[in-house]
Amino acid sequence: MNGIYGKVALITGGAAGIGLHYAKELLRNGLRAVTLADVNEERGIEAVEDLTREFGSNKSLYVKTDVTDKEQFADAFERTVDKFKNIDILINNAGIMNDAIWEREIGINFVGTVIGCILGLHHYLPKYKTAKEGIIVNVASTTGLEVFGAIPIYVATKHAVIGLTQSWGTESHYKRAQVRFLALCPGPTDTTLALDGLDKNLGPAYQDIFRESQPFVTLQGSDYVAKGLIHAIVNGENGSIWVVEDSETPYEVVIPSRDKLRIMNYHDLELM
Ligand SMILES: NC(=O)c1ccc[n+]([C@@H]2O[C@H](COP(=O)([O-])OP(=O)(O)OC[C@H]3O[C@@H](n4cnc5c(N)ncnc54)[C@H](O)[C@@H]3O)[C@@H](O)[C@H]2O)c1
Repeated sequence: MNGIYGKVALITGGAAGIGLHYAKELLRNGLRAVTLADVNEERGIEAVEDLTREFGSNKSLYVKTDVTDKEQFADAFERTVDKFKNIDILINNAGIMNDAIWEREIGINFVGTVIGCILGLHHYLPKYKTAKEGIIVNVASTTGLEVFGAIPIYVATKHAVIGLTQSWGTESHYKRAQVRFLALCPGPTDTTLALDGLDKNLGPAYQDIFRESQPFVTLQGSDYVAKGLIHAIVNGENGSIWVVEDSETPYEVVIPSRDKLRIMNYHDLELM
């Protein structure tokens, strides 16, 4: 079993971009049904039509949702359970890259992810999962594993998503709720977010840093990221971090523990 067959997923920001590719790839891998929870109603309706053409009727549902609004987010779970009876996989994917409206950016990328995790972990997944285990995938970014001066606030939201995933992806939470947490970190990918991102920052100085530091970025296709999601779900341990970049096979990133680095540091000093 791949952890996907016969399951029901809810994908935030699933009406377009990489999120819609996640929906398609999960359905290709045996997912029973998917809810697209997205703020863009027009794209949401089109996306369900698209999924119905490819996978048949009663496989997908669109719920107009702003992830920063707790009641709307809870309604997306409720409508999923009403229609499909279960909810097994939550993908917190909705995001924007726009430091010029940083309060909204933090709201969507970080607060929205927190709301999803709390609703998923504390209520809906333990209660309505089909089988033993539920899964929450939080979409971060390769920028969540590095520094990038052109968009420091976007970068910080993605670092935060990784810390959140690792902290909830610990044994004590798993024992209680049987919900596995994963962080997925796509590299630059060919969506509106990446293509329109150059001037969405704190001003011209930041735009210059963008140009200087990333002159020749190649954007990978969203289909590679979606395949990376399947790889992470099938292979990823609780709390693990997965990168998918440059259209290559995904790889796991293990952040060294501070305690181990500290011991190594003392050891080096002793040898001096
Ligand atoms: N494209 C990239 O290069 C890239 C790289 C790394 C990580 N990511 C991350 O992947 C995720 C998806 O990005 P994408 O490239 O597909 O972007 P996109 O702009 O193509 O799609 C984002 C989707 O999120 C929806 N959305 C925006 N605000 C929302 C809100 N408040 N509530 C619900 N839905 C909302 C949009 O309507 C849209 O359908 C984001 O979290 C992004 O940070 C993207």
